[in-house]
Amino acid sequence: MLNFYVLTLFPEIIYGGLNHSILKRAVDKNLIRINCVNIRDFSKDKNKRVDDYTYGGGCGMLMQAQPVYDAFKSVKKNCPVIFLTPHGKIFNQKLARKFAVENDLILLCGHYEGIDQRVIDEIVTDEISIGDYILTGGELPAMILIDSISRLIPNVLGKNESCEYESFENNLLEYPQYTRPEVFHGKHVPKILLSGNHSAIKNWRQRQSFITTWMKRPDLLKKMEENKMNAIFSRRSIRKYKNESVTDEQLELLLRAAMAAPSAMNSQCWEFVVVRDKNHLSELATLNPYHQMLKDAALAIIVCADLNKILANEYWIQNCSAATQNILTQANEMGLGAVWLGVAPYEDKMQRISDNLNLPENIKPLNVISIGVPDEFKNANDNFDTKKIHYEKF
Ligand SMILES: Cc1cc2nc3c(=O)[nH]c(=O)nc-3n(C[C@H](O)[C@H](O)[C@H](O)COP(=O)(O)O)c2cc1C
Repeated sequence: MLNFYVLTLFPEIIYGGLNHSILKRAVDKNLIRINCVNIRDFSKDKNKRVDDYTYGGGCGMLMQAQPVYDAFKSVKKNCPVIFLTPHGKIFNQKLARKFAVENDLILLCGHYEGIDQRVIDEIVTDEISIGDYILTGGELPAMILIDSISRLIPNVLGKNESCEYESFENNLLEYPQYTRPEVFHGKHVPKILLSGNHSAIKNWRQRQSFITTWMKRPDLLKKMEENKMNAIFSRRSIRKYKNESVTDEQLELLLRAAMAAPSAMNSQCWEFVVVRDKNHLSELATLNPYHQMLKDAALAIIVCADLNKILANEYWIQNCSAATQNILTQANEMGLGAVWLGVAPYEDKMQRISDNLNLPENIKPLNVISIGVPDEFKNANDNFDTKKIHYEKF
């Protein structure tokens, strides 16, 4: 369950706006909880005032630090504190995913001309903006965050409401969609959608998605290019997973990425064993004390080499490592979490895996890759170290 704590002067806006439809059902099913904390309740003024004039002059009133601070203290949670402000990072799907793995989130809504800077500096961990325009208060942005974060919580969307392929998930806009009737004002539904040919429909949709994005939001395509770099820099070892599955399409993309790796003399000596059965994953976890996360993983890919296919025998580890790294990068690119679990070159570890998977004598396991829907978020690591770079000679 994700608990939202909204520090606000207007709880009725929040409750009134969110107590409907999908979010109401999510609250009823205890998947999310929305708790408003009325900042005015913490005013020490006899008239319950929470604002005052700004030092140095200027128009408008400012929310005072003390009631905001005391409202925050009343929540008693060690979690992200998000201040909705035009100063913040522009909210997007990636940030929604980052916040969706938390158990608690505090959202601070300002009013009047703003909030005393000292309390912002003291309690806020994340400043978020929903766009470059000014609103009368932080309640509407807070509701937008609550909506987009909540729909990422497992089971909040029902089967008919969820969609594997949605706008922004891949920095592409969604393809056009149609429902009955087949002809409206003389306009026909594209024929291919009536063909029943699922792979042709999938291709058509991908193409339409690309074309729509190119025409309406070319900036997103540029972002996609930048993301290729991000997929490398933001990859981290993810060892905590949600109880959610990885789709067949995602698995296929991971394996395609693996097989796009370079290999010595183009031997492509790799073989992949995919384990998805929960009992089997738990069994694999017992083979190595450092592989415990497999118990909660959606799947494992064991990257192996076929020694019979190796032309330059000694390079099988490098070939399979390149394939492994492609899987890790692709997993990150798709919003999945993965970690490389070492097996080779240790004979005893390799033997335990070989016995478990019934690997023939010529098939050698390099590693196990544990993969799932992330339940932790790690910041990108920048390990760049100029001392490790040597020019011409060491
Ligand atoms: C050859 C190899 C073996 C690894 N084995 C394990 C392992 O058995 N268990 C584990 O939790 N992580 C394992 N890792 C992941 C490393 O701990 C991780 O990559 C490292 O701490 C850097 O963190 P980052 O991947 O988040 O940047 C392994 C990584 C490599 C390359």
